[in-house]
Amino acid sequence: MVPPIPERVRPFVIAGILFALAISLPISNLFIQRQSLASNNNAEFKAVSDILVAKCADCHTKDLAQYPLYYDFPIASSIAHENVRNAQSSFLIDKKKLSGEIPFSESDVERLSRAMAKGDMPPAQYIALHWDSALNEKEQRTLSKWIDKRLKEFDIRPIPTENFFHPNPEKVALGEKLFNDKMLSASQSKSCASCHSLEKGGADQVQFSIGDNGQKSALNTPTVFNAAYNIAQYWNGRAANLKEQALEAVSNPHEMNADWNEVCSRLRNNETYQKLFLHAYPNGGITAANVSDAIAEYEHTLLTPGSKFDQFLAGDKEALSPEELEGYQLFKKQECFVCHTGPNLGGISFEKLGKTKDYFTTEMPGNRGRIDLSHRKEDLHVFKVPSLRNIELTAPYLHDGSAKTLPEVVQIMSEYQTDKSMTKEEIEKVVAFLRTLTSSSLSTRTKS
Ligand code: HEC
Ligand code: HEC
Ligand code: HEC
Repeated sequence: MVPPIPERVRPFVIAGILFALAISLPISNLFIQRQSLASNNNAEFKAVSDILVAKCADCHTKDLAQYPLYYDFPIASSIAHENVRNAQSSFLIDKKKLSGEIPFSESDVERLSRAMAKGDMPPAQYIALHWDSALNEKEQRTLSKWIDKRLKEFDIRPIPTENFFHPNPEKVALGEKLFNDKMLSASQSKSCASCHSLEKGGADQVQFSIGDNGQKSALNTPTVFNAAYNIAQYWNGRAANLKEQALEAVSNPHEMNADWNEVCSRLRNNETYQKLFLHAYPNGGITAANVSDAIAEYEHTLLTPGSKFDQFLAGDKEALSPEELEGYQLFKKQECFVCHTGPNLGGISFEKLGKTKDYFTTEMPGNRGRIDLSHRKEDLHVFKVPSLRNIELTAPYLHDGSAKTLPEVVQIMSEYQTDKSMTKEEIEKVVAFLRTLTSSSLSTRTKS
């Protein structure tokens, strides 16, 4: 046991440790062997994978990380652990992806592209201790070139029938129970499912939901179906992933309005949950992080393959009627796909509402969009592009639920997001196409 270090001398101790490490670690780095994971068949991907394995894997993977000595030192350890936790919650890859067995998703590539643009990876403190970890110019070029190429490849495509997220079944079962449990809200009156009903397209089909605090939300409730494909969560993207979103949802006054300590102690007093958590999280117990993790794991199963459009994309040319097909061609001609693309026809970028013509006439708090996060002027009225999957089930539309019907919102899109106006007839056809995006497993549920 290391005795506690008085507050006053801590900075000196940290400085001492860091100094010693700064000298010894770069030398020890030379002895860490990094094996190439990707095969030689694809030289371009292999070069990228080798860079990521050598310079990024310690913080951004669980199955390849080799932690340096100071990872278990007092003080330094808590900083390093925190760092790795943050790193993994914002960008997590694994052996399968680095070997090329599973492709990098759009959101992986989007994130990489963001990090390369900022040029802040690996973080400066890390480079200070591992001087060979900085990306040299050639490596930066290799990564950027590959990222740009991949970003161009992403196109509208089916939701795979196999779940590539490979969620853990025990966590999923626990997450499903939590998602439907009112115990997670302050007054025990709401569950996640109250606003995100699987019978109502994963949302609630009203303009604004009433939170556990009794107040209307400022924004329309988005669907939880296929949210796993989103680059980030919430209309303004403030949660990096589903786990972070669930962490906020429980305490957000407009959602569950609850106190995490209170929620965890309720769950700890419940025998069923004690057992389920013991199985799913043998070392972690009932904590906010694990509750959120289980809910997120469950949400990774809320995918909806099997729409008529997916059958069409898979090669069944008869799957769309002539009107629906014309609608799809218009969707491409009007350049809707520029924003609504990927397997989710959206969810992978942020765009201004009013791209080609000012949309807003009055300022409302709910209309500000990403500027609340970034504080950059150009992010005013910028929102995550919503998915168009199962769109016929989730009226009303837009972040403020102001568009009641599909023809109405398509008209708004053509007027404010593209500079190509559409006739009423064309709008009808696009709407017919949008209705083919409803998954067959959901079309039997209630429609709005
Ligand atoms: C010492 C640990 C560490 C190393 C090594 C590291 N990162 Fe990170 N990375 C982080 C942390 C911490 C964050 C979260 C940053 C934040 O929230 O500001 C992060 C975030 C990211 C993100 C998410 C950015 C976003 O906007 O969503 C990407 C992508 C990323 N890193 C890529 C890389 C790449 C590529 C490398 C290797 C060249 C790398 N990182 C090396 C710690 C690390
Ligand atoms: C009272 C209604 C309500 C409840 C209860 C609620 N939510 Fe939400 N949810 C919302 C609203 C409204 C938003 C959008 C808010 C925003 O973007 O700022 C949202 C956003 C989300 C999103 C983001 C989807 C996307 O595409 O950006 C997810 C995922 C989500 N909620 C899951 C959950 C989970 C999990 C729970 C339970 C822990 C929960 N919600 C409880 C109303 C609710
Ligand atoms: C420049 C990017 C961009 C283009 C082009 C674009 N959209 Fe959108 N779309 C968005 C954004 C951003 C939103 C969300 C805006 C908001 O609610 O503030 C949206 C919302 C929607 C919605 C409502 C989704 C929901 O859940 O509320 C539909 C439907 C839609 N778009 C269809 C289309 C169609 C059809 C076209 C082509 C005519 C199109 N979009 C072109 C960015 C775009």
